[in-house]
Amino acid sequence: MTLDVVILAAGQGTRMRSATPKVLHPVAGKPMVRHVIDTAMGLGADRLHVVIGHGAERVRERLAGCPLRFVVQAEQKGTGHAVAQALDGLGDGKVLVLYGDVPLIRHDTLSALLDAVDERHMALLTVTLADPTGYGRIKRNARGEAAAIVEHKDASEAERAITECNTGIMAMTADQLRRWLPRLSSDNAQGEYYLTDVIAMAAEEGTAIATAQPASATEVEGVNNRLQLARLERAHQLAEAERLMTGGVTLADPARLDVRGRLRCGQDVEIDVGCVFEGEVELAEGVRVGPYSIIRDSRIGPGCVIEAHSLLDGAILDGECQVGPFARLRPGTHLARQAKVGNFVETKNARIGEGSKINHLSYVGDARLGRDVNVGAGTITCNYDGANKHHTEIGDAAFIGSNTALVAPVRVGERATIGAGSTISRDVEAGALGVARGRQITKADWPRPRKQPKSEPKE
Ligand code: UD1
Ligand code: CA
Repeated sequence: MTLDVVILAAGQGTRMRSATPKVLHPVAGKPMVRHVIDTAMGLGADRLHVVIGHGAERVRERLAGCPLRFVVQAEQKGTGHAVAQALDGLGDGKVLVLYGDVPLIRHDTLSALLDAVDERHMALLTVTLADPTGYGRIKRNARGEAAAIVEHKDASEAERAITECNTGIMAMTADQLRRWLPRLSSDNAQGEYYLTDVIAMAAEEGTAIATAQPASATEVEGVNNRLQLARLERAHQLAEAERLMTGGVTLADPARLDVRGRLRCGQDVEIDVGCVFEGEVELAEGVRVGPYSIIRDSRIGPGCVIEAHSLLDGAILDGECQVGPFARLRPGTHLARQAKVGNFVETKNARIGEGSKINHLSYVGDARLGRDVNVGAGTITCNYDGANKHHTEIGDAAFIGSNTALVAPVRVGERATIGAGSTISRDVEAGALGVARGRQITKADWPRPRKQPKSEPKE
């Protein structure tokens, strides 16, 4: 059977108090609704329908490029009305209803739910909550089968005592939906077309309602305000931390880790507190990351050490490299084995050869350094002339004295030496010494200027 997934995302989200539509607020750096879309794609959905309303244009824009069918629900007349808007575009197989503001629902939970669906069965995900206030309650018949959902606002005192709640997530066949949705009425406390009323219709016609529960309640938790958003964020990050530790990573504190993307780690990786990983990051075995470092879209080879407060973005480190503290590696940085980039050094689009060192206070951009190069403190590649970027080439074992300005395009040959404080604007051949600075003058017995003595203050 084919699978259509309908994701409801038309609600306003007033309690977020935000100009940004609720479903675009991020969890782990990714809009909530993207989590749901990705999970749905993982289930092998043939079509994804996203029902939008409030902030429709923003949502559409943000999700451009995803293979989605947007369905506009101009007026929010309830969850049943929302699903009905997608009815025309559904196939003939199974339909799964998800929510753009319930981001952490897991693949396995949904896949089990879908397995229970056929012409004679629909499936409903329920959760038992200590405080069920506000939720739809699951009413079961004498045989213990789910037979109806009653919304909190429509429920009697006795029904409100029920703690088994509707998560909202359900699955059925498209045929069943086509039979049931046109029959919904808005004759209830909220004057809305409730999707939940299909449960009673199913029970009446003899379609069995299979129920399942999620492994954990956070999976089905929705976000209505920023407190709930932060709670889900932490729950998600803790799960990520546990996954990493189970895989052989030492975390100084699992509560102080943020992964916003995909972090893959080899064995015996150590991550200190306060680190943030964004995009696709790979840390090979034995990598150590010091506190408060940020690593984005980078590949760190075995045995590298990233010291505290470093920012790596789009960098590749071959192995046993040392970086930081306070280093900034920008996109296109490639450190060969045992290269070293120390404190207050910025690199960009730079290849640093094996064993080369840029230990302090430097900018190396649009450059290629051979192996065993030593770059002294305060060295700058002047790569930009105000209009264009130019390249700097430094040969193996060259020695660049401190406070050197390399005015690109320029080449420094192998084993060449640059005197400290030089401004190098012409190529220096292999093995040569290049010095380009004012010659020092020394004046013997120089009388230092002296202050005039102050006159006595008057009484
Ligand atoms: C709904 C369920 C309730 C369940 C609860 C779980 C109904 C009638 N009730 O209640 O049984 O316990 O979720 O959180 O379904 N939406 C639209 N268009 C609309 C209305 C809603 O897209 O016209 C979307 C909202 O953006 C939201 C979701 O559907 O993501 C749920 O709507 P909401 O109004 O929050 O339903 P609840 O009252 O919480
Ligand atoms: Ca809700």
